[in-house]
Amino acid sequence: MSKSNDNASFIYLKSITQAQRVFGVVLCIIFTSMLSCEKKHQEKSDEQPMYQDPHRPQFHFTPVSGWMNDPNGMVYLDGEYHLFYQHNPDSTIWGPMHWGHAISKDLIHWEQMPIALYPDSLGTIFSGSAVVDEMNTTGLGSPGHPAMVAIFTYHSTEREKAGYNDFQNQGIAYSTDKGRTWKKYNMNPVIRNPGKRDFRDPKVFWYAPSARWVLVLAAYDHVEFYGSENLKEWKHLSDLGFIPGEQGRGWECPDLFELTISGSKEKKWVLLVSINPGAYNGGSGTQYFIGQFDGKGFRRDSGETMWIEYGKDNYAGVTWDNVPNRDGRRLFIGWMSNWQYANVVPTKVWRSAMTIPRELSLINTDHGLRLASQIVSEIKSLRAGEEMLHTNVMGAVDTISEKISLPKSGLEINLDIERDNELNDFELEFSNPKGEQVLIGLDGRLNQIYLDRDKSGEVDFSRQFGGRHIGIRQAKNKNLDLILLLDLSSLELFMDDGTLVMTEVFFPSDRYTQLIIRSRTRGMRVKSVQLNRVKSIW
Ligand code: FRU
Repeated sequence: MSKSNDNASFIYLKSITQAQRVFGVVLCIIFTSMLSCEKKHQEKSDEQPMYQDPHRPQFHFTPVSGWMNDPNGMVYLDGEYHLFYQHNPDSTIWGPMHWGHAISKDLIHWEQMPIALYPDSLGTIFSGSAVVDEMNTTGLGSPGHPAMVAIFTYHSTEREKAGYNDFQNQGIAYSTDKGRTWKKYNMNPVIRNPGKRDFRDPKVFWYAPSARWVLVLAAYDHVEFYGSENLKEWKHLSDLGFIPGEQGRGWECPDLFELTISGSKEKKWVLLVSINPGAYNGGSGTQYFIGQFDGKGFRRDSGETMWIEYGKDNYAGVTWDNVPNRDGRRLFIGWMSNWQYANVVPTKVWRSAMTIPRELSLINTDHGLRLASQIVSEIKSLRAGEEMLHTNVMGAVDTISEKISLPKSGLEINLDIERDNELNDFELEFSNPKGEQVLIGLDGRLNQIYLDRDKSGEVDFSRQFGGRHIGIRQAKNKNLDLILLLDLSSLELFMDDGTLVMTEVFFPSDRYTQLIIRSRTRGMRVKSVQLNRVKSIW
């Protein structure tokens, strides 16, 4: 029972006689227990419907309520994947940032945890990362019980409003109970701002060859590298900026990690840098560079700007730290929105979801070395019955069209497409009985994928939401394998071994229950369509 209810009962009892008082107390107890019983019941019945409210994704993470943006502090420890995230618990609009928290044992089912980090006198808590301090370099843990350490940006709105430039500083906090409770370090900030208005989003990892921690920080038009022996004292190592001609401003949320090139023993470093605005299809997006890191600085192999994906809704994504070597995967998750419209998408209880977690790899393509994303294999646990629908449905005719009814559930769809030549195109139309639709197609002539959500449902909340968005293929092959993940309000397309990914959200008034496959060109065949119903995680 809340404090205000207790007070109300007290005031009521003060003005009555002893007999009345006894009677009153009895009544009050009955009333109170009825109330609390009703409240408990309400909480319980609220729990389920909460995850059933309009547009609520059924197999992507969303906070129970309130605003969410970037994933933060992703770290694995003792069988648990931690996902912290930028969170405003009091509103569905961006505001004073906290770190929300969720835990998963399989990257698919998430348990909502209490808020991990609250704003304090140094500021609100912007994006950052977390590590497990196995060797107790901080002295904040104890032998055998390493501390989990979060490294984040303090954002002081007061100093910003007062006209100072140094309102973003880096702080640390630690947990000695596997992320359940947190203490801020008493000597914060650990990296002081030298006077740069954008100075944030530290991502930290252990660099074994130098036996020290390395931190990458975003600073508007470049990233900065720092080194530390103990996560408390940091030394600036180097900077890396954009190359003239590139979209180089608004850099945020960097990440740096090493990957082995698939099919070889060679290793390369990958630097992820989110950028806002300036993404390929407008607004926010995540670019990456491939190169070498020597413990102090990063050297890019080429001047190319490459995108982790082309959809409009995968931003500020970073990877999990401390995933065990026996697993060996580089696991990534992104925020499924775009700053162009994130604050106005038509959801009421919560705002924004995360992408499905993905495994990153480096593969050779027709265009050179590329970062590829695959859905984590754990998604299999959600499959609820597979239907192999069609084989060789398309004849070699000019305009062909096949209608498939979709079950009213989440879906994983695998399409195996054969084409006689590279100019053959296709289009997939997902629609509902109200005529709302999302189109995904291949323009064979341009070798580009398009995703069109102009008529997908509610789109008028932002002029930058609708329209057709383009994805550039990194491959030329004629035959295509497509994987599509369809949730209530999002679609993720993976093709060309994960080198072409498009993630977009939408807000239809009802589920899409029909899939039409068509082609305007002769010589396109759909060899098979495999539909897997995907269970809800809630
Ligand atoms: C990226 C970002 C970060 C910042 C956070 C604030 O989306 O702008 O740079 O730390 O969001 O919520």
